[in-house]
Amino acid sequence: MEAKRGRFIVFEGIDGAGKTTQIELLAKHLRACGRAVYCTAEPTESVSGGLLRDALSGVSRRTVCEMAAMFVFDRIHHNVNPVNGIQKMLADGFDVICDRYYYSSMAYQGSGTDPEWVGNMNLGCPEIMRPDVCIFLDLTPAQSMERINRGRATQEIYENEEKLTQVRNQFYRVFEQLRERDNIQIVDAYRSVEEIHNDIAKLTDQILKI
Ligand code: TYD
Repeated sequence: MEAKRGRFIVFEGIDGAGKTTQIELLAKHLRACGRAVYCTAEPTESVSGGLLRDALSGVSRRTVCEMAAMFVFDRIHHNVNPVNGIQKMLADGFDVICDRYYYSSMAYQGSGTDPEWVGNMNLGCPEIMRPDVCIFLDLTPAQSMERINRGRATQEIYENEEKLTQVRNQFYRVFEQLRERDNIQIVDAYRSVEEIHNDIAKLTDQILKI
């Protein structure tokens, strides 16, 4: 018998929003409801993901357009790779939870180059699937910097307050643009881990009709 297709859930947020913690808690919640869950992230662990990480850490210098194209390549591979790609896992009945997706490209690269071009490359690509829901963990840039400075030894190229402000504003523009196309849920992330998780669990239970 064929497995029932799983749901595709994306988490987004500016750096420091707490995606990792909330993804773990949601995965636990969904598993407790009897669902099979597969967690994944972008940039991926593949060769293209490695190139992106070098660029993000500043080890290699890339233009914004190079980065945007590399993220698209990484994302296509993430969708279609036959071993554990998003489409394969969904078809096998797993709910796929993905840490960052095309909304990040549209916000991060879109705020550094032509946002329409970045959007078209992602939204117009037949091999990049639309998620069932995008959960945006929202923090102000000041709240985000406070968490980054508290928790980490190294910083990436986007982790300063000016850049985070630009990126957050661009996320909001993207959500406005995609309002009728995608299911986007904005969650206040400057609260306790439990409060945030309870909201997300309620939201996904409704959306996924568990
Ligand atoms: P990483 O430290 O791996 O994850 P996070 O900050 O989410 O815990 O960093 C991912 C970085 O990649 C983050 O700064 C955002 C950036 N990014 C883009 O610029 N464009 C994209 O399309 C994606 C997926 C990520």
